[in-house]
Amino acid sequence: MGKKRIVSGMRPTGQLHLGNLHGALTNWIALQNHGEYDCFYFVADWHALTSDYAATEKIKSSTVDIFVDWLSAGLDPQMSTLFIQSSVKEHAELFLLLSMITPLAWLERNPTYKELKEELAQKDLSTFGFLGYPVLMAADIILYKAYGVPVGVDQLPHVELTREIARRFNYLYADIFPVPEALLTDVPKILGTDGRKMSKSYNNSIFISDKGNELKNKVASMFTDPQRQRKSDPGRPELCNVYTFHQLYSEPETVAEIATACRRAAIGCTECKKRLAEAISEGMKPIHEKREYYLNHLKDVEEIIEDGNIRARRIASETLLEAREMMKINHGL
Ligand code: TRP
Ligand code: SF4
Repeated sequence: MGKKRIVSGMRPTGQLHLGNLHGALTNWIALQNHGEYDCFYFVADWHALTSDYAATEKIKSSTVDIFVDWLSAGLDPQMSTLFIQSSVKEHAELFLLLSMITPLAWLERNPTYKELKEELAQKDLSTFGFLGYPVLMAADIILYKAYGVPVGVDQLPHVELTREIARRFNYLYADIFPVPEALLTDVPKILGTDGRKMSKSYNNSIFISDKGNELKNKVASMFTDPQRQRKSDPGRPELCNVYTFHQLYSEPETVAEIATACRRAAIGCTECKKRLAEAISEGMKPIHEKREYYLNHLKDVEEIIEDGNIRARRIASETLLEAREMMKINHGL
């Protein structure tokens, strides 16, 4: 038996932020470095179309940005297969086949579908493609006969649907698809500068690429413990997003010192944030250096993508052959 396969994707809807880094990417990198898994990570550009079909001009540049951020953060094309969804057309073909066996009711009751539709209320999302989002995602996953899918809790209903679709295929035709597991990890709850979930659509993100004054100003604008109005008020670090970030970027002694000082009103939020901006700046330095390199060597990035596409296609076309055979579709006479 080969290594267990892991599959996950990200939608190219803009630059990656620290929420993406600590929420997903760190976990992906850990799975890659774990040694027992064969990881397939892709940019889900067709999925970006489901919500951004009317403004597609940013998808391509976001795709390249994401690759640059992935490589800089530590995804290694020697160890993981990194590719673009739309470059492997088997995703679309399997999506079509699966769409034939997916009951509409499964899609309509999907809580993520309802939530996202509300979150993006300004866009018209009453499309066939948007409703079918999880079917495409199921195709993405079972195309590689994945054992595990590292995702955030918000994606759990989609993975659940993937499992149901895989079981249905296996039941109707032949048992060829492993039923994949969602791999959840404990991720720190990183909020945006305004205290809401960090999200591009809320304009509250600290991007992986942010540095210098931009970074300083964003950190300076972060919401803190809402009850701490004056410097003389004792604060509650456990309720403060700035403190959560300190736990990720500052030395343990500094973190402890800040917690104590905050509770005693011995440090002001301005000072606390200044130290945080410095810590993030320091912590992101290796990533920023690699970003510089890749941005100046986009040809390398292109080659990495092309190589990943080829590797992904190899597995994908095998699975498709098998799926078509089991469904008795156009498999010789
Ligand atoms: N829906 C995922 C998200 O928005 C992205 C995605 C697309 C994905 N296809 C996938 C994640 C397959 C895991 C596996 O984050
Ligand atoms: Fe938050 Fe720091 Fe202010 Fe305490 S001192 S409330 S941890 S920003």
